[in-house]
Amino acid sequence: QTVPVVLCGGSGTRLWPRSRKQMPKPFLPLIGDTTLFTATVLRCEPSAGFGDPVIVTGEAHLAHVEAQLPDRDRTRIIVEPAGRNTAAAIALAALVLDPDDVMLVCPSDHHIGDVAAFQAAATEAAALAADGWLVSFGISPTAPETGFGYLKQGEAISGTGGRRVGRFVEKPDLARAMEFLASGEYAWNGGIFAFRVGTFLEELGRYRPDIFDAVRLAVEQGHWDDMRFHPDAQVFNTVPSVSVDYAVMENTERAAMVPAVMAWSDIGNWQALHEALECDDSGNAVNGPAELVDCSNVMVMSDGPRVSVVGASNLIVVVDGNEVLVCTPEGAQTVGKLSGAANQ
Ligand code: GDD
Ligand code: MG
Repeated sequence: QTVPVVLCGGSGTRLWPRSRKQMPKPFLPLIGDTTLFTATVLRCEPSAGFGDPVIVTGEAHLAHVEAQLPDRDRTRIIVEPAGRNTAAAIALAALVLDPDDVMLVCPSDHHIGDVAAFQAAATEAAALAADGWLVSFGISPTAPETGFGYLKQGEAISGTGGRRVGRFVEKPDLARAMEFLASGEYAWNGGIFAFRVGTFLEELGRYRPDIFDAVRLAVEQGHWDDMRFHPDAQVFNTVPSVSVDYAVMENTERAAMVPAVMAWSDIGNWQALHEALECDDSGNAVNGPAELVDCSNVMVMSDGPRVSVVGASNLIVVVDGNEVLVCTPEGAQTVGKLSGAANQ
């Protein structure tokens, strides 16, 4: 059985004003009436071959996690005293599991439109992980994004749908990202990973023994409180803050990937959300009270006031409490620069 390990960490600024420090992206009902976090847990259902999930989250988000968990009774929650990035978060989960377990590491803030395709890729990835590969989900790149990791597709691993990863490059600069895209040889790292627990810890210990040792000590000195695990705060705070991409994936010689065509989006900004939503024939999408007349490619979200738009194209309007954001699709990239977003 594959154990889903769901990561709920940091907060972004690009979905301001809906996403705020106290209410970050994973916990918002952005698509339909479920949240990205709840949808992530529901994708890994027992009926699709998944075991009981483990959630790794910070103290600050614990209340949201517990309120939104579909099945509180069978879910273990690891509570980080402070975020020390994904290498540490994944190591915490690994250290409470068995070395032979296969874990499927899932970010909690992505949208996946095709759940069946996700589950098929997860099954394939889990089989490769059981054989000792550290497996990424490869997404077909559509733009030279610099916020993603890039996987150079290597030779096929015979008898499987997977490939070796020739090279893993985390967050390249724009020039390299453009080069990778043009070469046609690279996929985006979807940020979802399948690891055999023992293999992951071995590789972390090989490349970042400092992280491995500190997390192990924090776990040894930690304690369970019902279904919650609290690593020792003093020790955990000393763990170097490095993402798993830099700490392990860029270094390991056991990297593999499965291609995943599953309508994936990291919902990095309002425009990305617009693209993930179901739209009418003119490309408009509405969530909340709104009236659109003679509009095209307009997205409106409102949690209260009715929003009326006439004759507009390519526009995003978001109302949240006493804040109103109006931007273009291009402007959606830079919402984080607004003082409202920066000073929340
Ligand atoms: N529990 C916990 N603790 N979770 C964390 C922490 C932490 O300290 N830091 C980050 N996370 C969670 C985030 O909430 C998110 O769900 C996931 O781990 C990935 O972290 P991000 O901060 O969103 O990473 P990224 O988007 O910059 O890059 C990663 O994802 C890309 C795809 O979206 C990398 O894996 C890239 O290579 C990848 O392309
Ligand atoms: Mg991300």
